[in-house]
Amino acid sequence: KSIKASAPATVANVSCGFDIFGFAVEAPADEVIVTLTDKPGVTITKIIGDDGRLPLEASKNTCGVAVLEFLKAVNSKYGAEIILYKNLPLGSGMGSSAASSAAALVAINELHGNPLTREQLLPFAMESERIACGSAHADNVAPSLLGGFVLIRGYAPLDVATIPTPANLFCTLVHPHLELKTEDSRRVLKPTIPIKDAITQWGNIAGMVVGLMKPDYGLIQRSLNDVVAEPIRSVLIPGFYTIKEEAIKAGALGCGISGSGPTIFALSTERTIAQTVGEAMQKQFDLLQLKSDVFVSKI
Ligand code: HSE
Repeated sequence: KSIKASAPATVANVSCGFDIFGFAVEAPADEVIVTLTDKPGVTITKIIGDDGRLPLEASKNTCGVAVLEFLKAVNSKYGAEIILYKNLPLGSGMGSSAASSAAALVAINELHGNPLTREQLLPFAMESERIACGSAHADNVAPSLLGGFVLIRGYAPLDVATIPTPANLFCTLVHPHLELKTEDSRRVLKPTIPIKDAITQWGNIAGMVVGLMKPDYGLIQRSLNDVVAEPIRSVLIPGFYTIKEEAIKAGALGCGISGSGPTIFALSTERTIAQTVGEAMQKQFDLLQLKSDVFVSKI
């Protein structure tokens, strides 16, 4: 028995919500075909689209780890074979590792008759994030598994909530052909935050939630700021502040680093604006002679 499943790219942090906000986009998405086997254990038979860079060994591969954890948790007598179609770029800040494990978990759960809810699958996907980058954050895996805009209210115990979003909210993703390792972009962050910055940040986090729920685009716009990670991580992304300025000039509500970067995201109220914003952002990367891809999605 085989099942094909896919899981989308995600934007983690959404500027102010480091490790606690994330939303899913429409595309790109990773795809898997998972086959149940009588032989226990997990085999990754093939990975297509990674240029041979991802490990085939299940215990070192994010989708392999997630499926191994699942099989252990449900006491399965089966094993699994996985074919992974890696459509998301590696080290992009678009939740690449999370999408592979989310897709694999949906498939293996389905193959067992869905004993677990999507939320109950989260810890397995988080475990695979730990393998990928040393930290079990949920702000990519949660939206990739659950869809929509997700708040991770707490980690111990895990407490997630989906935030309703306005009918018209569009995301532009511009992915420069550069790679950043999440592990490295986490290491550069400071371990403490001055109280003044903490006040700014939690004001913006609350503002974002209210802005999305009302909806109030002005409030979303004012809340799309980050005084914790962006000032440090932006140094790793060529032209970041110029690109951000151009995105806002082209009509975006705001713009920031997608996850740990180098992909940059912008939010807009219309699809056509989101497209124009993408062109304006890409033009800046062109000027820096950096190739980039643009994706526009409804949130
Ligand atoms: N919240 C994580 C980080 C997301 O910013 O490190 C990684 O994509």
